[in-house]
Amino acid sequence: MRNSVLKLGVVALAAVGSVQFATAQKAPQFGKASIDELIDAMTPEEKAELLIGPGMPGYAGLVPLEGEPDVRVLGAAGGTAPIERLGIPETVFADGPAGLRIQPKRKNDPNTYYATAFPVGTSLASSWNTDLIESVGEAMGEEVKEYGVDVLLAPALNIQRNPLNGRNFEYYSEDPLVAGKIAAAYIKGIQSHKVGTSMKHFAANNQESNRLSVNAHITERAMREIYLKGFEIAVKEAKPWTVMTAYNKIDGIYASASHDLLTTVLRDEWGYKGLVMTDWFGGYPGFGAIMDSTQVSDVVAQIEAGNDLMMPGTAAQKSKLIQAIKNGTIDEAAVRNSLRRVLEYVAASPTVKDGKYSNKPDLKAHAEVTRSVATEGMVLLKNEGDVLPFTKKSGTIAVFGDTSYSFIAGGTGSGDVNEAYTISLIEGLNNAGYKIDKDLQAAYVPFVEKVTAEEMARREKNGGLLSDVQRIPEMPLAKDMVAKKAKASEVAVITIGRNAGEQHDRKIANDFYLGQDEVKMINTVADAFHAEGKKVIVILNIGGVIETATWKDKVDAILLAWQPGQEGGNSVADVFSGKSNPSGKLTMTFPVDYYNHASAANFPGFPANDPKEVSYEEGIYVGYRYFNTFEVQPSYEFGFGGSYTTFEYSDLKLSTTNFKDEVEVSVKVTNTGDVAGKEVVQVYLSAPANMVDKPSEELKAFGKTKKLKPGKSETLTFTLTAKDLASFVDAQSAWIAEKGTYTVKVGASSTDIKLTNDMNVSKDITAEKVHNAFDTDVDMKNVLMNN
Ligand code: BGC
Repeated sequence: MRNSVLKLGVVALAAVGSVQFATAQKAPQFGKASIDELIDAMTPEEKAELLIGPGMPGYAGLVPLEGEPDVRVLGAAGGTAPIERLGIPETVFADGPAGLRIQPKRKNDPNTYYATAFPVGTSLASSWNTDLIESVGEAMGEEVKEYGVDVLLAPALNIQRNPLNGRNFEYYSEDPLVAGKIAAAYIKGIQSHKVGTSMKHFAANNQESNRLSVNAHITERAMREIYLKGFEIAVKEAKPWTVMTAYNKIDGIYASASHDLLTTVLRDEWGYKGLVMTDWFGGYPGFGAIMDSTQVSDVVAQIEAGNDLMMPGTAAQKSKLIQAIKNGTIDEAAVRNSLRRVLEYVAASPTVKDGKYSNKPDLKAHAEVTRSVATEGMVLLKNEGDVLPFTKKSGTIAVFGDTSYSFIAGGTGSGDVNEAYTISLIEGLNNAGYKIDKDLQAAYVPFVEKVTAEEMARREKNGGLLSDVQRIPEMPLAKDMVAKKAKASEVAVITIGRNAGEQHDRKIANDFYLGQDEVKMINTVADAFHAEGKKVIVILNIGGVIETATWKDKVDAILLAWQPGQEGGNSVADVFSGKSNPSGKLTMTFPVDYYNHASAANFPGFPANDPKEVSYEEGIYVGYRYFNTFEVQPSYEFGFGGSYTTFEYSDLKLSTTNFKDEVEVSVKVTNTGDVAGKEVVQVYLSAPANMVDKPSEELKAFGKTKKLKPGKSETLTFTLTAKDLASFVDAQSAWIAEKGTYTVKVGASSTDIKLTNDMNVSKDITAEKVHNAFDTDVDMKNVLMNN
């Protein structure tokens, strides 16, 4: 007691002392003084104030919680703290990948602060259209700017290593090139408004089970070729203002405390100049530890590794850092570097540069953007007998499946947007002039309301935002009722819905695989409608991969709509009616069986109910790299997607067949069908594999044609450099393009290769020499698959 009173006294005195010092010396002021002068003038307490975030005031509720200060943007996830004495203003960070996540209502304020729910990351990526993604970024960026936020906590571009990852919907692909190119376009779009992004979660945050401390054992080659590559592309092409480190450990070290990751690779090799922040409570082993004031993350290791800012920041982190600064147990230069990066960011922030925001973004225009973008991310998985587009508007459509009546705009957790509305499938179809069966609607609507309310109450009890997500049960269907509907309706539409989010991975049963209630629904509807010679169309309103092999033959068409944002129902109706021609393609494999994925042997790790360790034994054989090389037949392969028209590929040309440092690949694509459409063109490469084992082919470039009218063509050109040809050779710490014959394969998917051409590399080319990094903390040699 005596001691703590004493301590308090000392702290109080110190504070008084610094205030007196400040008035006497006239503290340098932010904006006038140089960054070095500011840092020199800072007390240890002020340094900690700037490197440890201010918590999450106003995040959860309509008003700040008791004792919390007033906040500029309610619902924002955090920011940097102000230091009044030095004139340093606060700045604001808010989620997330599908649009700005803020609280839509404020106390004693008649205005609303809704943001647009854009399609989820997977949907955006499925467009394979980087120009389009840049324009989505521009729309999102306007909302960030106009709501007074400095940094959007997005994009999220972790690799979809396994279909069960609960946050796959936020991510882009199982392939790093797709992830990197989409992320780069997104960042460019947002940052064009002079607001920041936070590229996350760096790196290898590929599961939610035990995400705060799971130790991922990954080889350096897999890190560099698969888990870092997308981030590398985005850093180099788009320069995100900030990077958010992942929660997990990589080879025994927290990502937020990994010098290899944050300094050797990110800064020294890639030349990154911006700010690095932790994910929220990153470096704490679990949520229990955050609540326990005696525990604290290793802020010294984090800062010395190059992680500048701890988010959202705890009191324990602050006092630990203050002590380390005072005792000299933290590298002074590292603290200085981190302070400099935070101050450089603050100086560039809209808070400082502009300071004006309207709280009135153009939500109307953005609703149009999300409506059309979502259609471009939709993937036509099946369309037997050209049942789609369905143009007949006389007669009624029998609409089945709970989700048809309660469409899912996006996933849960920090990636969820507080949008003003979501257009359901039936609303979308109605808006497009289709007549929906009224009896079905009358039965479904109250049923869905009831089961949804039950599920929401369950989630609220289980942690709210961070609760697991369970699928609502399908409404049971009586066979004779469905038989009547089959007689009376033109066509059947069934929606299968899935949702997931932070903190929990998806389950194999009743999630990846359909539940028995869903199987029964498909069987009942398909039997009844086919008996009448009528078609069945399935809409997949999902955020991640599900099993399709056992039921796809029972239905006539499958449209993968993903979680398409707030205009979802209208977007689906646009494709359903043919107003838009679907041009999305899969950015991941849809396997026949979950266990066909090489990663399934090690997901979510060991022990399965509370994984402490996860070994990426599949090495680089992630997604199609595995399926194609080991000839495992998928249900739908990486890169696959149908269209209402057809395309022909011709005139594949290489600028040289004797590769020196660059080759230009060009190919002509012609619309040979009856309606206008766009085609995603994929360039794969098969490389000689003498030094190291290699996948049978890897994606090296992609592009999308403009909308081609029937009969029209476009020639797409791609450039491949030595680094594109190279694989990472661990023994030499280098990216090497081996000598030998390379086959350039241009295709409509990873297995539907249309044209090939060979080229030769006459001697080994070292495309890039790098540092040795990511030494594995366990022996991976005996467990690795062929690499
Ligand atoms: C998530 C981040 C998010 C942060 C702030 C964390 O739980 O992993 O993606 O940006 O919270 O909301």
